[in-house]
Amino acid sequence: MQGMWIRGGRRLAGRYHVSGAKNAVLKMMAAALMTEEPCVLRRAPAIRDVETMAELIRHLGVEVAWQPGGDMRVCARGIGSLEAPQHLVRQMRASVLVMGPVLARMGQVRVALPGGCAIGPRPIELHLRGLRKMGAAITEERGFIEARADRLVGADIHLDYPSVGATENLMMAATLARGTTVIRNAAREPEIIDLQLFLNRMGARVSGAGTSSIRIEGVEGLNGAIHEAVPDRIEAGTVMIAAVMTGGDVTLVNAIPEHLEAVTAKLREAGATVEETTEGLRVTAGERPKPVYLRTQPYPGFPTDMQPQFMALLALAQGASIVTETVYTSRMKHADELRRMGADIVVDGQVAIIRGVRRLTGAVVEASDLRAGAALILAGLAAEGETVVDGIHHVDRGYEALDVKLRALGAEIRRIGEGVPVVSGLPVAKA
Ligand code: UD1
Repeated sequence: MQGMWIRGGRRLAGRYHVSGAKNAVLKMMAAALMTEEPCVLRRAPAIRDVETMAELIRHLGVEVAWQPGGDMRVCARGIGSLEAPQHLVRQMRASVLVMGPVLARMGQVRVALPGGCAIGPRPIELHLRGLRKMGAAITEERGFIEARADRLVGADIHLDYPSVGATENLMMAATLARGTTVIRNAAREPEIIDLQLFLNRMGARVSGAGTSSIRIEGVEGLNGAIHEAVPDRIEAGTVMIAAVMTGGDVTLVNAIPEHLEAVTAKLREAGATVEETTEGLRVTAGERPKPVYLRTQPYPGFPTDMQPQFMALLALAQGASIVTETVYTSRMKHADELRRMGADIVVDGQVAIIRGVRRLTGAVVEASDLRAGAALILAGLAAEGETVVDGIHHVDRGYEALDVKLRALGAEIRRIGEGVPVVSGLPVAKA
């Protein structure tokens, strides 16, 4: 297992280039399965989840190749297998997003049931209910979901909850359906607007993404397209918090201010300065952070994917904060690890009370999932002494070369491998 060694206390300053959004690119890779023509995703991030999706679509018999400059080419001339196997769906839940596209194009698909994950049970009944409404016959047996439909038909679908994945799966499937589909109470995330843009470049007729009602007029076929995904707002937000926690001054190059409004509002409440510049967003730390109350919500509310990182910041605030997680049932595991670094956090179900301390101290901690790992790295950057964050493969799922990019801002952070010698509880990092 790889870890990240950090010597805390360095002020981060400079320009940070934000990569393409993981949560946009993964869906576009799935959408590319709906055409025989090649699609090119410009500057796709080289992260583990993108590799996993590439592995999955290769398993379906589709060509995926990296081109010079970091562009990814997906060419689904034919689809050889109709099955998303368990080991890949287990590795990454977003694998279920091939269901809508493959069903729409091939009339049949089999996807392993995703099961739970580190942040709670994550069912997909909203995806299935929507596909059934579009005429799919769906059966579940021996850990697989099988869906069939000669041709999907447009339908009026109301989601009980604005699920990001359900909105996207149904939106993609509907592009090739006969007739018009309307998805109501749809998720409104920026990555969904980006998916609409990509689908329309492929010849689809989708409108309304970004609002709670998305309308898709089915077409007979789709063509290849070239697209560059929006910048990753969660990566940008993570580094904004790193800047604030280290008393720093960082410009997030390409960040889209509108996508980060909820995070920016809370950072300002905590005393940081956030300004829009011609390049993106500049974040300057204030005095010791002030406590804030925050509640995660679907977009445009405060993103659940930023909750662990914000909790790391609040651990150092001057006073008590309350964080309520409403999207997932058990996304508080980072609190235990932050406590090992000296944080004072009490968790009761989906609510955490964080009494800010003056300083965090370095420790050996373990990432339980992607964003929890990011939060621990932030805590390590601000802590006194050395920290090792184990389980860094979780962080590699969603952050492209985070250690390299943070080092360029002045952080003392290094990747360490398995079996690194340990002195006084902490591995000795090699220069
Ligand atoms: C996406 C993001 C993830 C983010 C999440 C919420 C990707 C690849 N992942 O995940 O990073 O944390 O949005 O912003 O884009 N739910 C149901 N039934 C369903 C579907 C969802 O109960 O059929 C529940 C889930 O268990 C969860 C909540 O709805 O508690 C939100 O899930 P959803 O919006 O679907 O998230 P994902 O698309 O899985």
